[in-house]
Amino acid sequence: MSLIPANVYVTRRIPDAGMERLRAAVERVDMNEEDRALSAAELLTAVRGRDAIVCLLTDRMDAAVMDAAGPRLKVIADFAVGYNNVDVEAATARHIAVTNTPGVLTEATADIAWTLLLSIARRAVEGDRAVRGGAWQGWEPLQFLGHEVHGGTLGIVGAGRIGHATARRAVGFGMRILYCSRTAKPEWEHTLAAHRRDLDALLAESDFVSLHVPLTDETHHLIGAAQLARMKPTAYLINTSRGPIVNEPALVEALRAGTIAGAGLDVYEHEPKLTSGLAALDNVVLLPHIGSATRETRDKMALIAADNVLAAVQFQRPPNCVNPEVYSG
Ligand code: NAP
Ligand code: GLV
Repeated sequence: MSLIPANVYVTRRIPDAGMERLRAAVERVDMNEEDRALSAAELLTAVRGRDAIVCLLTDRMDAAVMDAAGPRLKVIADFAVGYNNVDVEAATARHIAVTNTPGVLTEATADIAWTLLLSIARRAVEGDRAVRGGAWQGWEPLQFLGHEVHGGTLGIVGAGRIGHATARRAVGFGMRILYCSRTAKPEWEHTLAAHRRDLDALLAESDFVSLHVPLTDETHHLIGAAQLARMKPTAYLINTSRGPIVNEPALVEALRAGTIAGAGLDVYEHEPKLTSGLAALDNVVLLPHIGSATRETRDKMALIAADNVLAAVQFQRPPNCVNPEVYSG
């Protein structure tokens, strides 16, 4: 079988499954061989003359990168479901398809939301530190008291795939489920007995607030000082969506002041930098953006990214195109 005459660039090593699928089908596939993200200048050079780019959420794919790639560029295949790192408008204006990897990472990411929720409410990481550090002197009646998860109210902000999977897990914990979304989700009401609320009401009523919206102009700093002040002092904020959805300095202040009980974060406003003071707090659990980080999920993401590239370089609409208008007309 002849290879597709295309030139693909992968900005950093992704699981072999995806690389093998690309290499089996395409004439030329290059990859950043160094185990680090490319600088902006390196990216501009590396993409020159490519038909397709597989990029990461840490790569800023703006008009300058697209223009550096040149007129052959047909697709930017993001190795992520969240594609806020890509200037989709600029891509569409240049007839470049933008694709993502939805669905396959839903369950893994919901598991991480729950890892954070349980860890912060039951002070698991704090307890681990005490045991390892030798500070633990044995069982005490008032030691490491957290808050009950079972029977509480879970508020989901962003009622999409991951929000739904996170809410579904709450049924087993006997929780009341609230959700906030721009559109009503009758299926949530029927299958999860969930109730729709506006953001302010959800924040005021929930014991746990879990964020699952994409990062857009509308959701940037959706949670700031005013929103944190609406939460119960016994409530927890869980963020597995994108860091800039939360105003991180306002969160640090709320955690310090006891405005809320704690937070579990997988994502940060200026990754990998943390807002000053965040890491010193005991009432926060911090994970290194590992929502989709299981071997199985990352393999599937790599295969999806490869399939998106293979379709686009054969002038077909990729299965996960976020700007399908590039194929109309
Ligand atoms: P999704 O299915 O598209 O769900 C997002 C939902 O957010 C949509 O259903 C949308 O519903 C809602 N929404 C959008 N704007 C909103 C707003 N202004 N207010 C309220 N709701 C709004 O996406 P997903 O697959 O669940 O992924 C969600 C996000 O999780 C991704 O964009 C990504 O940033 C993040 N993520 C992080 C990790 C990680 O490693 N931590 C892994 C995977 C994904 P309506 O249109 O009805 O409002
Ligand atoms: C990870 O953060 C993703 O959006 O896939």
